[in-house]
Amino acid sequence: MDLLIRNGMLVTETEVFRGDIGVQNGKIALIGASLDLPAARVVDAGGKYVLPGGIDAHTHLAMPFGGTVSADGYLSGTRAAACGGVTTVFDYTMQRKGKGVLETVEARRALCDPEACVDYAFHCIVTDLNGGALLDEFQASVDYGVTSFKCFFVYKKEGMMVDDATFLKVLLKAREVGAITNLHAENPDVIDMNVAQFLREGKTSAWYHYLSRPEFVEAEADKRAVHWAKSVDAPLYIVHMADQEGLEAAVAAKRAGAPIFIETCPQYLEFTCDVYKRPDGRNFVCSPPIKGEESRAALWKAVADGGIDTVATDHCPFQSYEKDWGKDDFTRIPNGCAGIENLYPYMLAAANEGKITFPRAVQLCSANPARIFGCTEKGSLTVGKDADIVVYDPEKVVTISVGNMHSDSDHTIWEGKTLKGYPVETYVRGKLVYRDGQFVGEPGYGRFVKRAPSK
Ligand code: URP
Ligand code: ZN
Ligand code: ZN
Repeated sequence: MDLLIRNGMLVTETEVFRGDIGVQNGKIALIGASLDLPAARVVDAGGKYVLPGGIDAHTHLAMPFGGTVSADGYLSGTRAAACGGVTTVFDYTMQRKGKGVLETVEARRALCDPEACVDYAFHCIVTDLNGGALLDEFQASVDYGVTSFKCFFVYKKEGMMVDDATFLKVLLKAREVGAITNLHAENPDVIDMNVAQFLREGKTSAWYHYLSRPEFVEAEADKRAVHWAKSVDAPLYIVHMADQEGLEAAVAAKRAGAPIFIETCPQYLEFTCDVYKRPDGRNFVCSPPIKGEESRAALWKAVADGGIDTVATDHCPFQSYEKDWGKDDFTRIPNGCAGIENLYPYMLAAANEGKITFPRAVQLCSANPARIFGCTEKGSLTVGKDADIVVYDPEKVVTISVGNMHSDSDHTIWEGKTLKGYPVETYVRGKLVYRDGQFVGEPGYGRFVKRAPSK
């Protein structure tokens, strides 16, 4: 064996049991009790949990947005991922008017490939159908291994918004080729109306970011999207769900049999909209904004009871000087926050304190994203799968600070948050990439994940 991890508490999406894992040629080769085999590297995981690597299904690395580019590129973003136990990152690549899906994906792949420290996949954002030609390319995209497309109901002035007809066409074509449609759901017209009114009234602090996009603005769009997906029976993945009303409508539709999947993010589980009243409120500006306590509680309930399918980060950090552009005008704050390194530690700490189970954390952060998005080699401690493995010490206490994170962002909304339990080792396809607070991987080691269609 290349690697033998012994005596750990192995976590699958259904159970926890004591066992050993043998790794050969980047794959899980054996799982058993007391494997007594020679191995090049033997790890004693006594007293530790051993889990499948996290999959962050939602990131924006090196993303041109908000008048700048997000602060983590493919190297620093995937380095931070590795140090938080994330072994596969899904990045959003943006198709622009006149451009095709494959040329868009391949251009990003050329940037990502030499830098990626963990494995990576792409969702393709659709901004324009090029008179319908783009839809004709969906099959080729699926054959290439990109099996998810994303629409925005917002970001009109950024040229990213699509109308309902475009969204419906994407839903239908994606279903036809065995792909899935992801959606950012908020109502752009109501946001624009609220923003214009607040600016007229001189209400310009970060708090008005929240008030211009409160609960019902997201809920309307969630419900509209659920209506379309249900009506045409096409798979829909709602990203970064943050509000109670929309969540409950989506969960109800899902439980009634509609092909709907729901993602939320740690920032919506941890904070409330009160952060926007803080002097550093602009650092928390993301869209949709973080909502009130009732929404936060509803999200946690759905995380625990299966209503929510995945937790991902929407990692899209901007430097302090960029966030400062909006000190006196919330509309100038680039939208997005860091989180890629905090996802798995945060959700596993919730398991460690008994808020959810360890298998549930594995479902949300690994098994479900692998299944929903067709990563057939990922998301599970099973013989034959990629040896993407995290060793987790339930006793290790870490207080998050920008100084002990591995992103290029110069601040973090998670500053000062203490977690009991933390990953101590991360392996990507059997290779150690993180150990005890240090990145030990290699840029360029990460590989493109060719995904399978859903039929
Ligand atoms: O504020 C956010 N979420 N920024 C990234 C783009 C998006 O909407 O996902
Ligand atoms: Zn979004
Ligand atoms: Zn996003």
